[in-house]
Amino acid sequence: MKTILVQGAMDSEIEQLINMLSEHSEVKKAEHNGYFFYETKLNDVQIIVAKTEMGIMNATVSTMIASEKYQPSIVINQGTAGAHLRSLNVGDIIIGEEAVYINNMRSPAKKKGEGSNALEWHPGKSLSFLIKATDFLVEKASAIEFDSKVLCGRLGSGDVYSKEVDRIDLLHSQLGELCEDMESVAVYKCCQTLEIPFVGIRVISNNELTGNGDVEKQFEIAQTRLQSFIFKFLKQLVDTVIS
Ligand code: 5AD
Repeated sequence: MKTILVQGAMDSEIEQLINMLSEHSEVKKAEHNGYFFYETKLNDVQIIVAKTEMGIMNATVSTMIASEKYQPSIVINQGTAGAHLRSLNVGDIIIGEEAVYINNMRSPAKKKGEGSNALEWHPGKSLSFLIKATDFLVEKASAIEFDSKVLCGRLGSGDVYSKEVDRIDLLHSQLGELCEDMESVAVYKCCQTLEIPFVGIRVISNNELTGNGDVEKQFEIAQTRLQSFIFKFLKQLVDTVIS
């Protein structure tokens, strides 16, 4: 049986998806080396929903464990992200054509007492921190009809939650990312290395450039919308994976 791995960092990023899947088939919870995986089926395809936990290291470990245990044919990393463009709103969905590692930074030398200023940092030159998703998955996700804004672009990720407008604007001008999350690029790196087709799909849950309202509520709205999108995507992918 073929397998699709869908990942989310937090319970709230996978709960609704698991509920939707449980209407089709029984869901079993498994633990491997301290990481959690929900095993189920959609038609004749095994679906594994992984709770990766937050951040680059967790996403890497969870992906490596899942690849060994379940040997997925497709990996979908999904979850929330902060906007790095003023034109993006809470609930907008971004299909990650590419992902870039935003912590690959160099600082200028400063002596003791001279402090630190992230606005003086610049990205390292290696292009290995920019990774392209698998074309056919980007195309399939883009073709989904959905009643909110869906666009393709570059995801940025690292172990940082940026809330400084000047820093966000600078990062965007240096790396071209549309949004910021803490897992997607790690998953891109693992899947590229292991030669497993992959795509990251993110929903905007906060925009520090234009200001936020009730952030908890915004995350909730965003997560609900994305999980419906992902479920739709899964239903369409299942036919692809079998054939
Ligand atoms: N910056 C970084 N990560 C974010 N996330 C949502 N918004 C942001 C942001 N502005 C996602 C991350 C992480 C959790 C904090 O939510 O991927 O899992």
